[in-house]
Amino acid sequence: MNATYTKVAVVAGLVVLFAAISLNAKETTMSGDVCGMSQDDMFQCKPAVATGTLAPPLPSSACCTALTHANLTCFCTFKNNKYLPLFGINATRAMQLPSKCDPTQIVRC
Ligand SMILES: *[C@@H]1O[C@H](CO)[C@@H](O)[C@H](O)[C@H]1NC(C)=O
Ligand SMILES: *[C@@H]1O[C@H](CO)[C@@H](O)[C@H](O)[C@H]1NC(C)=O
Repeated sequence: MNATYTKVAVVAGLVVLFAAISLNAKETTMSGDVCGMSQDDMFQCKPAVATGTLAPPLPSSACCTALTHANLTCFCTFKNNKYLPLFGINATRAMQLPSKCDPTQIVRC
């Protein structure tokens, strides 16, 4: 593992908000929860934030439950994140996710 790869892996580990189940699962495991959400939590939410679909499904109740203990302020860190599309995540949808579960849960960045 060379230095460049390590750096990329660390950055990717930090940015994979909902993508921890994908290729970088090993790296993200080291950092544990992201914004108060476990990898399993993120997996529950992934369909609702996927790119490439015209109308993503509404978040599952499991996803919404997970979001209730997530740090929404921390979500802002991922807004405009250029790595999210690499993991099949639409950042716009990710930002809208909390309000889709609960209209009072607005992500203010
Ligand atoms: C991302 O989501 C927004 C809002 O649903 C949508 O308008 C946009 O086309 C999506 N982009 C991609 C690449 O899926
Ligand atoms: C939420 O995340 C923000 C940004 O990462 C951080 O500053 C804040 O302390 C966190 N709040 C809690 C309750 O963990």
